Amino acid sequence: MNVSETIFRRVQLAAELADELMSNSRTGMAWSGLFLSAPRRTGKSTFLREDLQPALERRGALVLVADLWKNSDVDPGDVIVDTVRQALAAHQGVVARMARAVGLERFGIGGFSFSIDRVGLGKGVALSDALAELSDRIRRPIALIIDEAQQCMATRRGNNAMFALKAARDELNFAHHGLRIIATGSDHVKLRMLLGSREAFFCATERALPVLGRDYVDWFRARHDIPDTLGPDVLERLFARAGYRPEVFESAAIAVGRQGFGGPNAWVSLERTIDELMANVHAPAMRTVDELPPIDGAIIRVMATSYEMFAGFSAETMEAYRRVMNRLAPEPSARLDYPEVERALERLVSLRLVWRSVLGLHVVEDPTFAVAMRKAGMLDVVKGTPGAKLTLVTSNKDGLSVA
Ligand SMILES: Nc1ncnc2c1ncn2[C@@H]1O[C@H](COP(=O)(O)OP(=O)(O)OP(=O)(O)O)[C@@H](O)[C@H]1O
Ligand SMILES: [Mg+2]
Repeated sequence: MNVSETIFRRVQLAAELADELMSNSRTGMAWSGLFLSAPRRTGKSTFLREDLQPALERRGALVLVADLWKNSDVDPGDVIVDTVRQALAAHQGVVARMARAVGLERFGIGGFSFSIDRVGLGKGVALSDALAELSDRIRRPIALIIDEAQQCMATRRGNNAMFALKAARDELNFAHHGLRIIATGSDHVKLRMLLGSREAFFCATERALPVLGRDYVDWFRARHDIPDTLGPDVLERLFARAGYRPEVFESAAIAVGRQGFGGPNAWVSLERTIDELMANVHAPAMRTVDELPPIDGAIIRVMATSYEMFAGFSAETMEAYRRVMNRLAPEPSARLDYPEVERALERLVSLRLVWRSVLGLHVVEDPTFAVAMRKAGMLDVVKGTPGAKLTLVTSNKDGLSVA
């Protein structure tokens, strides 16, 4: 079975976005970039790869893809640099081979001479120069897709790469054949940081990638032997219950179908199976939270109760941590200091429960996990704790500042 048979294609959505992106407009997403957000596991990467990339290619773009989550050991900044280098190498094939054949590391693009490993951040050849050369050579727009773009803000090199791309975008859109930037993320709180006034992508268009809906459900029904008792309305409701996650919905439907869907109450067993699968999604992380030291457990709980979910250090918030910690701990403690909170946040970041930007901003890694904790009653201990509504406070090596 090839991919096209196993996924529902979103041709129209891709065409609309690609048309807008590839237009010559000097405003909007064509000029400043597009940031797409959608919840975890709802099909962002699939849409980029299967629908948007081909749509952009059909409109003449050279599409480069940097997946910042593919390999968590590689700095996001390096992933972006490597993506650009690979594109250069792919379009340099002949020249590069000739250069290597004569033992030369260096080769030129249109009179501009450099070796590929000199392209990078703070290296001899800036990303914007390399991309401008590539643009002139191929005489087509370049579209750079950055999947999980918020990771750029987790490291200094990643942050530098974002500013380098901003410079490249401005130069290529102004004087060459164009650089379209398309970025995705699961958490719009984090993505919004990228779009902040002091950040690289100020003014970029932010859009929610619509979750799959009725047309996906109809497609699924047509491919499987689904009884009339599970009509499109019922399935659409159950798909929403599955958090709009195709893998949860499809595995549940296939599992229930294997036993035979049964009579008019088929939806009951399907609903139960979906609920079980959804409960399992966050079960390992919940077990981890249960086993945390009280201070770590208190911080993640307090963070998860706030809408924006930033970890703060205001006196009120510190007090909220301390109170919740004392509710969780066998031995109450009278005080809690900043270094202890910093160390706990570090542990939470390494457990991937909390995400940290290079500026020292902390956010719950997965917003759907915060919702799951609330549903499981894990946040009840925070109730009635003064200061649980957090202010946006950042900490960095130079101290604390209120944003
Ligand atoms: N259009 C679709 N039709 C059928 N299945 C889909 C579709 N889009 C995504 N899926 C399935 O849903 C699952 C998640 O898809 P994908 O990895 O694209 O989501 P994501 O939002 O990028 O996830 P993450 O938050 O982990 O980055 C995969 O198993 C994928 O095959
Ligand atoms: Mg993805």
